Amino acid sequence: MPVGIFDSGLGGLTVFNAIRQRMPEQPLLYLGDNKHTPYGVRDPEDIYELTVRNTQQLFDQGCDLVILACNTASAVALRRMQETWIPSNKRVLGVFVPLIEALTERKWGDNSPPREVAVNQVALFATPATVASRAFQRELAFRAVGVDVEAQPCGGLVDALEMNDLELAEAMVHSHVAALLRRMPKPQAAVLGCTHYPILEHVFQEALGPDVTVYSQGNLVAASLEDYLRRHPDLIGADGATRCMTTGDPKSVSVAATRFLGKHMVFEAA
Ligand code: DGL
Repeated sequence: MPVGIFDSGLGGLTVFNAIRQRMPEQPLLYLGDNKHTPYGVRDPEDIYELTVRNTQQLFDQGCDLVILACNTASAVALRRMQETWIPSNKRVLGVFVPLIEALTERKWGDNSPPREVAVNQVALFATPATVASRAFQRELAFRAVGVDVEAQPCGGLVDALEMNDLELAEAMVHSHVAALLRRMPKPQAAVLGCTHYPILEHVFQEALGPDVTVYSQGNLVAASLEDYLRRHPDLIGADGATRCMTTGDPKSVSVAATRFLGKHMVFEAA
């Protein structure tokens, strides 16, 4: 059976791409809710309802495991879904934890008490809803002590990337980074806490300078999924082909996705 990968739009393709490169044999089913993108400016109830609806769609298509390749959905909806909604025979994973484990030098399943780690000044770039949820700080506090997090809500950046207006997106990255550096002049690490942003990782790196280590999620989530599937072989399925679905217009989303990823992408209607 395919592993489901969900995002509000195109951003989750950065995770999809990394997983496909790492595990070419594993069928994937991508679902982008392009009709309702962006999520990052919606209220939590709205984000919860949209995430549940789309996750159900992936379950209905035969996915037993769904990855929320969307920080906004992971930050705002995942905990409530796990507590009240996910059926016992299905699994839903977010994209926060692999990133925080990398930042805090932890292996999967290391539940030892929080401890001091190498980094203590961390810049977080994410959508307004992810920043407002404080989910990143909450997950970090389970694993590390003494880490200052300065968060920058990057309003408008997802819209610019969905529209493929790279000039506008790059200008926005520079102004968001400048705003953050005014509040935290010397971060050691920067987290790209939105799956759309890795497309502009080089721009973030340039604006932050060479001394800042930039963390983005694609490879970290792919490595963590590989490890997870090794521990849950019942969820591995070699049957079925990799497909991409959208709630938006398949034609225009295929064109936008091809531009976004720099690879030929074909979407079908969800
Ligand atoms: N890729 C989503 C994320 O990681 C973007 C959210 C949005 O649609 O604003 O947060």
